[in-house]
Formats: sequence, structure tokens, C-alpha cells
Amino acid sequence: MKVFRSKKTLQDYIERQKEMGKKIGFAPTMGSLHEGHLSLYTQASKENDLVISSVFVNPTQFNNPSDLEKYPRDFNRDIKILEKAGNVDAVYLPEIVDLYPDGLKSKGYDFDGLENEMEGKFRSGHFDGVGTVVEELLLQVKPDNAYFGEKDYQQLLIIEKLTEKLKLPVKIHGVPIFREKSGLAMSSRNERLTPEQRESSKVIHETLIKVNDWFRIITIPEINKRIKDIFDDQRGMMLEYFVIADEKTLKETDFFYKGHDYRAFIVVFVNDIRLIDNMHLD
Ligand code: PAF
Repeated sequence: MKVFRSKKTLQDYIERQKEMGKKIGFAPTMGSLHEGHLSLYTQASKENDLVISSVFVNPTQFNNPSDLEKYPRDFNRDIKILEKAGNVDAVYLPEIVDLYPDGLKSKGYDFDGLENEMEGKFRSGHFDGVGTVVEELLLQVKPDNAYFGEKDYQQLLIIEKLTEKLKLPVKIHGVPIFREKSGLAMSSRNERLTPEQRESSKVIHETLIKVNDWFRIITIPEINKRIKDIFDDQRGMMLEYFVIADEKTLKETDFFYKGHDYRAFIVVFVNDIRLIDNMHLD
């Protein structure tokens, strides 16, 4: 596996691969790799000639400085995991200057309102940071296909919107959420949970399963009340939001209209660790 630590060396490599007509699949990450990331590479390696990943903890998408500071980083461990996975051809570990040549600031984007829902209400500037770094990475890596986890479903739709608006020649793929045995969605943040917190956090996924059982049977205000009751009873956990939203517009709904697809979204703090999850309702 090739490791590129600068834009220049990466771009020479990409040019050669493009000349040989290789189809490139790309999965950007912020490192601290886990099986969820590996599932992106598995899908990418089935659909492309070459798989490239990147590891970059992007400062502009963190609205909370302490979250950025505490974000786990271990590049050597990540490289070992990638080598062991065996289906990643190259990894890009850019320096800040490679992605932000004019200084560490975000561009302002209009994602047709997708950015104002859910995460947008709680993490000011987050999607401008994601948009800025993903746009730059896609321009540098020039992939044919790019892969993002559905755990960050709002991010996935926003990246689709970004590439559509900028007419970037890349197809965006969502990869289903990879879960721990307990059902907890895999996340780099899970590493910070104690074994007890990890065990109790399975209530997040269990709750989404209940919501799916209640879908179109009880009203949304009643579902919202039940969710609030569940989390009021959880020690050391705080529900930040629970929203049932249209799967395309991400607009919150309080009624299930016919012909629309819906998804339930949840964010819970376990002490200061922010866990996010979602589920398509059917
Ligand atoms: O989902 C992530 O890990 C990040 O938001 C991404 C897409 C790599 C951009 O920094």
C-alpha cells in the first residue's frame, strides 16, 4: 500500500493511474479506523480497479474545540489497519496546507436547506467545514466513485448535493451502518466509552428498532413522547435530539404522509461523548 504525505506525490500517482484507465474508488476518513470504515473499502474494492483512502482530522468541521482536541488520532495504527485490510491501494495523509493553502477556513455553501436541519441546528458551521474539505479532496483524488457511511446520513445527502451543484464527475455511494454486536453504530468516538457506557449505549439502536415497530401505527407526537421517556430514565445519558424526517428533504415531520420515505435520527450524549445514529423506517 502506498502512503502519500503530500498533494504533489499523490497527484503524480493519480495522473499515472488515470492514464492507465484505472477506475478509482475513494473513501475519505478522519482516521481512528474501525470495521465501519473497512466496509467502505470492501464496497469500493468491488466496484473499482483501485481504492484510495485519506486520513485527515478536519479542524473546520468541529464546532466544539474540545471535541476536536479529544478526537482520537493514531496514524500508525490506521496505516497498520489499512495494510491488514489488504484492499486499499493507497492512503493520503495530507498536511493542513495541502487542503487549505489559503489558511484554515471554510467556504460558505448553499445545500438547498439540507444544512439547516438536525445537525445544522446543533453544530454551527459543521457542514461548511465538511463541504470545504470534501470538495478539495475530491478535486485532488479525482475518484470515479466515493463512499460515505450512512451513519452520517445528513452528511451523505449534503455531499451528494455538493457534487451535483459543483458538477463534479464522481458518483457518491452510501454504505449501510456497520454495527457492533450490541447494535451500537460503529464510531471512532466509541473508543472513548467505558465498557459499562458501551453496554448501556445499545439502548440507542434498540430505541430505533422500537420506532420502526411503531411506524405508521402510533402518531409521531406519541413516538416523540415515548422516546423522551426512555432517555429520561437512562442514567448518564442525555438525548440531544430525536427527529423523524423525510428521507429526501430531511425536513422533520409530525405526520406520516403516504408516498414519502421516512428516517428516524437520534443524537445522544453519553457523558460528553456524542453518539449519532439513524434508521430507515419501513
Ligand atoms: O465522515 C467523516 O469521517 C468526515 O466528515 C469526512 C467525510 C472524512 C470529512 O472530513
